[in-house]
Amino acid sequence: MKNSNLIITGARIVTPLGRTARKGKDMNELFDEYGSIEITEGKITYVGHDRPHLPEGYQVIHADGKVVLPGFVDSHTHLVFGGFRPDEFIWRLNGDTYMSILQRGGGILSTVKATREASPSSLRNKTEWFIHTMSQMGVTTVEGKSGYGLDRDTELKQLEVMQSINFDPIRKVDIVPTFLGAHAVPTEYKGREDDYIDFLIREMLPLIKQRMLAENCDIFCERGVFTVEQSRRLLRAAQEMGFGVKIHADEIVSFGGSELAGELHALSADHLLHASDAGIRALADNDVVATLLPLTAFTLREPYARGREMIDSGCAVALATDLNPGSCCSGSIPLTFALACIYMHLTVAEAITAMTLNGAAAVNRADTIGSIEVGKQGDLVMLDADTPNVMPYYTGMNAVERTIKGGRVVSHRE
Ligand code: NIG
Ligand code: FE
Repeated sequence: MKNSNLIITGARIVTPLGRTARKGKDMNELFDEYGSIEITEGKITYVGHDRPHLPEGYQVIHADGKVVLPGFVDSHTHLVFGGFRPDEFIWRLNGDTYMSILQRGGGILSTVKATREASPSSLRNKTEWFIHTMSQMGVTTVEGKSGYGLDRDTELKQLEVMQSINFDPIRKVDIVPTFLGAHAVPTEYKGREDDYIDFLIREMLPLIKQRMLAENCDIFCERGVFTVEQSRRLLRAAQEMGFGVKIHADEIVSFGGSELAGELHALSADHLLHASDAGIRALADNDVVATLLPLTAFTLREPYARGREMIDSGCAVALATDLNPGSCCSGSIPLTFALACIYMHLTVAEAITAMTLNGAAAVNRADTIGSIEVGKQGDLVMLDADTPNVMPYYTGMNAVERTIKGGRVVSHRE
C-alpha cells in the first residue's frame, strides 16, 4: 500500500482501545477526546492534544471538531461473485424460503454457476465497484469469502481476484481472504458430503496454504448443508494447517454451530440468529467473537440475533454486512448501525466497538487495525458531524466525509 504522512488536528477522536476484542461491558468504553492524530508512513505515530507546531512534510486536515473513528472493518462478506439473484428476492417476498430455494438447486448454487462462468477480470471489476462503495461508507478492511466455486479452479479464481486487489499499491481497502469451499454441497457431490469434505481437506486446503490465498477457513454449518461433525472435521484440519477458523452458525435453525465454535476456539461464529443459551455461553467463555449481521435478518424477515443478551453475557460482538448476492445484497454500513442500535439494542459506543476493534479481532488483525492508537495502521473515518450518534441516527444515510487508508485520503465527499 502506498503510505502517506498526515496530521488531523482539532478532531473529536472516538475509539475503542486495545489489541484484542473487547468483551461484555468493556464494549461500551470508548476513548473520546479532542486533539490530533499524526500518521507517519502509514502508521499512527501520535494521538493526543493539539500541538502548537506542526512538523514539515505532512498533509494537514483541520477537523473543526468533527468526529474521527477507526476505519470500519467489515468482517463478513461474500464480495466476489458472478451474476445477481433479484428474482429470488421477489420469490422470497412472495413467501418462498431461503433454504427451499437452495434445496431446489437455486440460491448459492445458482451463483456458483454464474461464478464458474465469469472471467477473472469481470469478477475483479465488480469487486472493485463494491470496494469503492464500501470505502465511501468508511470501510478500510473487508473480509472476503470464496465459496461460489465449490470446485478447484473457481475457488482459486475467487481467491486470486482478492489477492490481485491486495497487490494494488493504491488500494482503498485491504481484503482478508477466507476459504469457504464448504459453502454448499456442489451438485457433483450431492449425497456424498463426506467425500466433498475429504476433497477440501486433502486437496484444497494444502493448495491454498501453499499459495497463501486465504488466512481463514469457514463453513456453512446448517441443517441440510454441513453437519456439526463435518464442520468439526474440516475446521480441525484447517487449524492444524495454520488457518484461523470461522463458522456460519445457527443462521436458519439452532444447530450447534455456536457450541462448536466455542469448542474449537474459533475466531468468530457468525449470524447466530438462533444461537442457544448454551451456545452464547460457549462463545463468551472461549473468546469467540459473535459476529452479527443484522442486514441479513432484515432482508430475510427473520428475528434479529440476541445482541444485547450476548453482550450482557460477556460476549465480544462484531457487526458486519454479509454482502452477498442472495440472503443480503447490501453492504450498507449506516443501515447496519441503525438496525444494531434499534433492534438489537446496542449502544452507539458498543456498535462502534463492534464495527472496528471487534471486527478486526474477528479477522485476526486486532493488533494492527481497529483502533486509533500509536503503532496501528493509519486507517480512519472522519464524519461530517460532531457526534458519533449520527451513525445510527442518519438511518441508512452516509455520515462519512472522508475515509483514510494508511494515511491517504481514499474517499472524500466535498
Ligand atoms: O451468509 N448462509 C450462507 N451464506 C450466505 C448467503 C450466500 C448466498 O445466499 O449467496 C450468508 O447468508
Ligand atoms: Fe455469510
